[in-house]
Amino acid sequence: MTILITGAAGFIGANFVLDWLACNDEPVINLDKLTYAGNLETLASLQGDARHIFVQGDIGDSALVSRLLAEHRPRAVLNFAAESHVDRSILSPEDFIQTNIVGTFRLLEAVRAYWNELEAEARTAFRFLHVSTDEVYGSLGAADPAFREDHRYEPNSPYSASKAASDHLVRACHHTYGLPVLTTNCSNNYGPYHFPEKLIPLMIVNALAGKPLPVYGDGMQVRDWLYVKDHCSAIRRVLESGRPGEVYNVGGWNEKPNIEIVNTVCALLDELRPKADGTSYNTQITTVKDRPGHDRRYAIDASKIERELAWRPLETFASGIRKTVQWYLGNPEWVAHVQSGAYRDWVQTQYASA
Ligand code: NAD
Ligand code: TYD
Repeated sequence: MTILITGAAGFIGANFVLDWLACNDEPVINLDKLTYAGNLETLASLQGDARHIFVQGDIGDSALVSRLLAEHRPRAVLNFAAESHVDRSILSPEDFIQTNIVGTFRLLEAVRAYWNELEAEARTAFRFLHVSTDEVYGSLGAADPAFREDHRYEPNSPYSASKAASDHLVRACHHTYGLPVLTTNCSNNYGPYHFPEKLIPLMIVNALAGKPLPVYGDGMQVRDWLYVKDHCSAIRRVLESGRPGEVYNVGGWNEKPNIEIVNTVCALLDELRPKADGTSYNTQITTVKDRPGHDRRYAIDASKIERELAWRPLETFASGIRKTVQWYLGNPEWVAHVQSGAYRDWVQTQYASA
């Protein structure tokens, strides 16, 4: 048995592979295009491990995907691959349309053709799991109830619109053709190996470098935060026991305004890596122009996955953010390579003699 995972050189996919192979011997085929967000250094500990097969390629390359499916006969495909950064989607949305919509469509088509040819038992057992986001539901007011799975779709950024479209394609593939799909809509993740363009890792690396900590607008936008390893355990639960055709919201029950997140990161750094001059890192906080169309609040009601699949996050925000800050302090090389761009040479240097 084997599973095919797309986008597993990225933040969540790579954490998923590391966790999967730590508790399981089932091999993983990792199909990743290695955009700027793909970093094989994250998976360096799997070098030489036959359970991890890396293939550089695009989910929109139908011939490649079909070949991988025919060759490896996976029992499941997990789709993490995406363009994932809202600010980049505002500056240049085209890549988001290509990967998140066209790419997911082509992936689904190749998977459907493969699934159609499986024996009856394998057809029934097969799963296509699509990893999505709470951002497809749009923005909540302060007093609104948290997003449930039946909340209407109201995406506001090119990123969330492209993810919403991909969710609809996945849904339609089940409804029309019967492909056994599962969709997870998760809140903001944080944890090890997070690319420092997103709020939490950016604040950590900028703070340590003595740079400004740019808070958009009034800093009172609210997100729900989930430790990445808890997201990975939720995906494993859904893959194992989720009902085909169902959607599961995944969240940490941890709603916090951005400014509180930034202050928490500063306080942890003050404790764990105090500045020589005795001042707090929070003196580096600066307010910058707000993101256009900035969603005010996301909140996840994760009671369905808790009720039906007995999943709960293990980390509180306090424990998860401490682990995260400690991880960044303990892994300066990973951070330095990301900042210098050297991580992009990893494939050439590491695999040159392979
Ligand atoms: P990421 O940007 O860190 O990683 C994305 C990975 O996909 C990269 O390795 C990249 O090289 C790869 N990729 C991009 N385009 C590709 C293509 N056309 N073909 C193959 N690979 C391609 O993203 P992430 O934060 O790990 O997010 C993973 C998934 O989880 C995404 O679908 C995202 O929408 C979803 N999600 C993310 C969060 C979050 O907080 N990060 C929350 C909820 C859902
Ligand atoms: P981000 O990590 O980009 O995730 P998303 O936009 O998908 O929620 O941003 C999280 C929040 O932090 C969001 O409200 C935007 C805000 N933010 C800042 O205030 N400053 C920053 O430099 C960044 C990257 C984000």
